[in-house]
Amino acid sequence: MTISTAETIERFRERAVTLPPWLQAHIGRVVSEGRRLAQIHEIDVKRVQAGAWGHDLHRADRVDQLLAGATQFGLEPSLEEQTAPILLHGPLAAAEAEQAWGLTDPDILEAIRWHTVARPNLSAVALAVFVADKIEPQKIEANPALLPIRALAQHDLHTAMAALLDQILLAQIANGLVVHPATARARTHYLAELARRPPAGSG
Ligand SMILES: [Fe+2]
Ligand SMILES: [Fe+2]
Repeated sequence: MTISTAETIERFRERAVTLPPWLQAHIGRVVSEGRRLAQIHEIDVKRVQAGAWGHDLHRADRVDQLLAGATQFGLEPSLEEQTAPILLHGPLAAAEAEQAWGLTDPDILEAIRWHTVARPNLSAVALAVFVADKIEPQKIEANPALLPIRALAQHDLHTAMAALLDQILLAQIANGLVVHPATARARTHYLAELARRPPAGSG
Protein backbone atom coordinates (compact mmCIF):
# COMPACT_ATOMS: atom_id res chain seq x y z
CA MET A 1 0.00 0.00 0.00
CA THR A 2 1.40 3.37 -0.98
CA ILE A 3 -0.25 6.69 -1.70
CA SER A 4 0.54 9.41 -4.23
CA THR A 5 1.55 12.96 -3.30
CA ALA A 6 -1.89 14.23 -4.39
CA GLU A 7 -3.63 11.63 -2.22
CA THR A 8 -1.27 12.47 0.63
CA ILE A 9 -2.21 16.15 0.46
CA GLU A 10 -5.90 15.21 0.33
CA ARG A 11 -5.57 12.96 3.39
CA PHE A 12 -3.67 15.61 5.37
CA ARG A 13 -6.15 18.34 4.42
CA GLU A 14 -9.08 16.21 5.58
CA ARG A 15 -7.38 15.79 8.94
CA ALA A 16 -6.27 19.43 9.16
CA VAL A 17 -9.84 20.76 8.99
CA THR A 18 -10.58 18.98 12.29
CA LEU A 19 -7.83 20.92 14.11
CA PRO A 20 -8.34 24.05 16.25
CA PRO A 21 -8.70 27.24 14.18
CA TRP A 22 -5.35 28.74 15.34
CA LEU A 23 -3.55 25.62 14.15
CA GLN A 24 -5.42 25.43 10.84
CA ALA A 25 -4.44 29.05 10.23
CA HIS A 26 -0.76 28.35 11.00
CA ILE A 27 -0.73 25.29 8.71
CA GLY A 28 -2.27 27.37 5.92
CA ARG A 29 0.47 29.97 6.29
CA VAL A 30 3.19 27.29 6.25
CA VAL A 31 1.69 25.80 3.08
CA SER A 32 1.78 29.26 1.43
CA GLU A 33 5.29 30.05 2.64
CA GLY A 34 6.48 26.57 1.62
CA ARG A 35 5.05 27.05 -1.88
CA ARG A 36 6.82 30.40 -2.16
CA LEU A 37 10.19 29.00 -1.05
CA ALA A 38 9.81 25.93 -3.27
CA GLN A 39 9.13 28.10 -6.32
CA ILE A 40 12.10 30.38 -5.61
CA HIS A 41 14.51 27.49 -5.07
CA GLU A 42 13.06 25.11 -7.68
CA ILE A 43 12.04 22.45 -5.16
CA ASP A 44 9.09 20.10 -5.80
CA VAL A 45 6.16 22.33 -4.82
CA LYS A 46 3.65 19.50 -4.31
CA ARG A 47 5.90 17.55 -1.98
CA VAL A 48 6.72 20.67 0.05
CA GLN A 49 3.00 21.35 0.30
CA ALA A 50 2.36 17.78 1.42
CA GLY A 51 4.97 18.17 4.18
CA ALA A 52 3.48 21.49 5.22
CA TRP A 53 -0.08 20.09 5.35
CA GLY A 54 1.07 17.13 7.45
CA HIS A 55 3.67 18.64 9.76
CA ASP A 56 1.47 19.79 12.66
CA LEU A 57 -1.43 17.31 12.62
CA HIS A 58 -0.52 16.32 16.21
CA ARG A 59 0.56 19.79 17.40
CA ALA A 60 -2.62 20.29 19.47
CA ASP A 61 -2.51 16.83 21.11
CA ARG A 62 -2.37 16.69 24.90
CA VAL A 63 0.72 15.15 26.52
CA ASP A 64 -1.15 11.91 27.29
CA GLN A 65 -2.26 11.69 23.63
CA LEU A 66 1.29 12.25 22.39
CA LEU A 67 2.65 9.54 24.67
CA ALA A 68 -0.17 7.11 23.79
CA GLY A 69 0.41 7.79 20.08
CA ALA A 70 4.13 7.16 20.51
CA THR A 71 3.35 3.78 22.06
CA GLN A 72 0.77 2.95 19.38
CA PHE A 73 3.23 3.59 16.55
CA GLY A 74 6.26 2.03 18.22
CA LEU A 75 8.23 5.22 18.86
CA GLU A 76 10.66 5.10 21.74
CA PRO A 77 10.76 8.61 23.22
CA SER A 78 14.27 9.91 23.91
CA LEU A 79 15.10 11.67 27.19
CA GLU A 80 14.48 14.98 25.39
CA GLU A 81 11.06 13.78 24.20
CA GLN A 82 10.16 12.38 27.61
CA THR A 83 11.07 15.72 29.18
CA ALA A 84 9.31 17.80 26.51
CA PRO A 85 6.66 15.51 24.95
CA ILE A 86 5.61 18.24 22.50
CA LEU A 87 8.76 17.24 20.60
CA LEU A 88 6.89 14.03 19.69
CA HIS A 89 4.30 15.80 17.52
CA GLY A 90 6.42 15.60 14.34
CA PRO A 91 7.65 12.02 14.79
CA LEU A 92 4.11 10.93 15.65
CA ALA A 93 2.57 12.59 12.57
CA ALA A 94 5.21 10.95 10.36
CA ALA A 95 4.76 7.52 11.96
CA GLU A 96 1.00 7.71 11.50
CA ALA A 97 1.30 8.80 7.86
CA GLU A 98 3.75 5.98 7.19
CA GLN A 99 2.15 3.15 9.15
CA ALA A 100 -1.55 3.96 9.00
CA TRP A 101 -1.83 5.70 5.61
CA GLY A 102 0.95 4.06 3.62
CA LEU A 103 3.01 7.17 2.88
CA THR A 104 6.43 6.06 1.64
CA ASP A 105 7.93 9.29 0.22
CA PRO A 106 11.13 9.64 2.29
CA ASP A 107 11.41 13.41 1.83
CA ILE A 108 7.84 14.16 2.89
CA LEU A 109 8.22 11.83 5.87
CA GLU A 110 11.52 13.51 6.78
CA ALA A 111 9.96 16.97 6.46
CA ILE A 112 7.24 16.01 8.94
CA ARG A 113 9.36 13.96 11.35
CA TRP A 114 12.17 16.51 11.71
CA HIS A 115 10.30 19.81 11.38
CA THR A 116 10.68 20.70 15.07
CA VAL A 117 14.30 19.87 15.88
CA ALA A 118 15.91 19.55 12.40
CA ARG A 119 18.82 17.25 11.64
CA PRO A 120 21.94 17.43 9.48
CA ASN A 121 21.65 17.34 5.69
CA LEU A 122 17.89 17.65 5.33
CA SER A 123 16.47 17.00 1.88
CA ALA A 124 15.46 20.10 -0.08
CA VAL A 125 11.79 19.32 0.61
CA ALA A 126 12.37 18.97 4.37
CA LEU A 127 14.55 22.10 4.46
CA ALA A 128 11.85 24.17 2.75
CA VAL A 129 9.20 22.93 5.20
CA PHE A 130 11.46 23.57 8.21
CA VAL A 131 12.24 27.14 7.19
CA ALA A 132 8.65 27.89 6.09
CA ASP A 133 7.35 26.73 9.46
CA LYS A 134 9.68 29.13 11.28
CA ILE A 135 9.29 32.25 9.10
CA GLU A 136 5.58 32.23 8.25
CA PRO A 137 4.22 35.80 8.55
CA GLN A 138 2.71 35.53 12.02
CA LYS A 139 5.97 34.23 13.50
CA ILE A 140 7.85 37.16 11.97
CA GLU A 141 5.25 39.55 13.39
CA ALA A 142 5.74 38.00 16.83
CA ASN A 143 9.54 37.99 16.53
CA PRO A 144 11.00 40.62 14.17
CA ALA A 145 14.48 39.11 14.73
CA LEU A 146 13.34 36.56 12.12
CA LEU A 147 13.17 39.21 9.36
CA PRO A 148 16.85 38.78 8.36
CA ILE A 149 16.26 35.01 8.15
CA ARG A 150 13.42 35.61 5.74
CA ALA A 151 15.71 37.82 3.62
CA LEU A 152 18.42 35.13 3.61
CA ALA A 153 15.87 32.49 2.65
CA GLN A 154 15.08 34.42 -0.54
CA HIS A 155 18.59 33.67 -1.79
CA ASP A 156 19.92 30.60 -0.03
CA LEU A 157 18.09 28.18 2.26
CA HIS A 158 21.33 26.76 3.68
CA THR A 159 22.61 30.15 4.86
CA ALA A 160 19.15 30.90 6.25
CA MET A 161 19.15 27.56 8.04
CA ALA A 162 22.50 28.18 9.78
CA ALA A 163 21.29 31.57 11.03
CA LEU A 164 17.88 30.17 12.01
CA LEU A 165 19.42 27.34 14.04
CA ASP A 166 21.55 29.90 15.93
CA GLN A 167 18.38 31.76 16.89
CA ILE A 168 16.50 28.60 17.83
CA LEU A 169 19.27 27.28 20.07
CA LEU A 170 19.85 30.66 21.74
CA ALA A 171 16.12 30.99 22.45
CA GLN A 172 15.90 27.47 23.85
CA ILE A 173 18.70 28.14 26.32
CA ALA A 174 17.37 31.61 27.19
CA ASN A 175 13.92 30.17 27.92
CA GLY A 176 15.07 27.14 29.88
CA LEU A 177 13.85 24.71 27.21
CA VAL A 178 15.24 21.34 26.25
CA VAL A 179 17.85 21.40 23.48
CA HIS A 180 17.62 18.39 21.18
CA PRO A 181 21.05 17.09 20.11
CA ALA A 182 19.87 16.83 16.50
CA THR A 183 19.42 20.62 16.45
CA ALA A 184 23.01 21.20 17.54
CA ARG A 185 24.26 18.61 15.04
CA ALA A 186 22.24 20.28 12.29
CA ARG A 187 23.81 23.64 13.14
CA THR A 188 27.29 22.14 12.89
CA HIS A 189 26.38 20.52 9.57
CA TYR A 190 25.20 23.78 7.99
CA LEU A 191 28.11 25.78 9.41
CA ALA A 192 30.57 23.22 8.05
CA GLU A 193 28.85 23.24 4.69
CA LEU A 194 29.08 27.03 4.46
CA ALA A 195 32.75 26.95 5.53
CA ARG A 196 33.54 24.53 2.68
CA ARG A 197 32.10 26.82 0.06
CA PRO A 198 34.55 28.74 -2.09
CA PRO A 199 34.69 32.47 -1.26
CA ALA A 200 32.22 34.60 -3.23
CA GLY A 201 33.65 35.67 -6.58
CA SER A 202 36.30 32.94 -6.66
CA GLY A 203 34.52 30.85 -9.27
FE1 LIG B 1 5.27 21.72 14.74
FE1 LIG C 1 4.23 24.35 12.51
